[in-house]
Amino acid sequence: MDPFFQLREFDFTMPGLDREYKLLHISDIHLAEWDVDCTPEEIAYGKEATASWEKGRFNFARAFGDSVDEVHVIPLHGYLQKWIELANEIKPDVILCTGDLMERITSPNLRCLKEMLPRFEAPFLWVRGNHDGGEESEYIPFMGEHPAWQVFRLGKLKLILLDNSKKEITADQLAHLREEAEDGCLPVLAAHIPIRTEKNDAVMAKVGEYFTITKDGAVPDTRAFLEYITAPECPISLFLCGHVHGCMISQYAEGKTQLTATSTMLGGGNIIRLLPQ
Ligand SMILES: [Fe+2]
Ligand SMILES: [Fe+2]
Repeated sequence: MDPFFQLREFDFTMPGLDREYKLLHISDIHLAEWDVDCTPEEIAYGKEATASWEKGRFNFARAFGDSVDEVHVIPLHGYLQKWIELANEIKPDVILCTGDLMERITSPNLRCLKEMLPRFEAPFLWVRGNHDGGEESEYIPFMGEHPAWQVFRLGKLKLILLDNSKKEITADQLAHLREEAEDGCLPVLAAHIPIRTEKNDAVMAKVGEYFTITKDGAVPDTRAFLEYITAPECPISLFLCGHVHGCMISQYAEGKTQLTATSTMLGGGNIIRLLPQ
């Protein structure tokens, strides 16, 4: 395999699943494109952001003990091409990107994504990260009618993607989450920002306050979301996230796992096998 990749593999058993499913979980590409149609300002921004991540990726690699060398210092859109090639080779049932696909929403980034994302042969799901930014309506071409709460079904499995990029979950999102999670399916939840609870505090304390959502200081609807997903009766037991740029696995409540992905800039990604009992 291309030495660029640092994949991690995880198996989760989901009793009642109709068959095995394979997810390719990636996160945080931070695309900052420029092209021939760009204004001088857009070109300057793309170059500046790219240069900044050439240093930034080393900091995250050091923090999480990931390897990083010259194979990881390539143009940002080059990462996307590498992930397209890998995904088309390993053939997951779905590719799930947990946010910060873009450094920020720009015309050249959107042009790049419109051209490149259809090259993934499997469905490509993407939930907004804090960097992606922009207005929700700008994501409809990529995420469908409701970018704030997307749903993707694969047999009995249901992937529910919530936009928590502003560190908040609205009452509307929570209502849809409950409705979608409680219809007899086997739900997996995905969002950009991980949560920090009493149960996973020792693990998530490794990253600063910026990187997690906690009950402390949360608005009432976000607190209600945290109470819901940590309750024993909530049918969700797997929560996939990004934002921290490193791979962290923790139990955010009894029997409930949170998994984050190493930044794709470092070749990191999770191959997640969901197995019937
Ligand atoms: Fe990020
Ligand atoms: Fe982020």
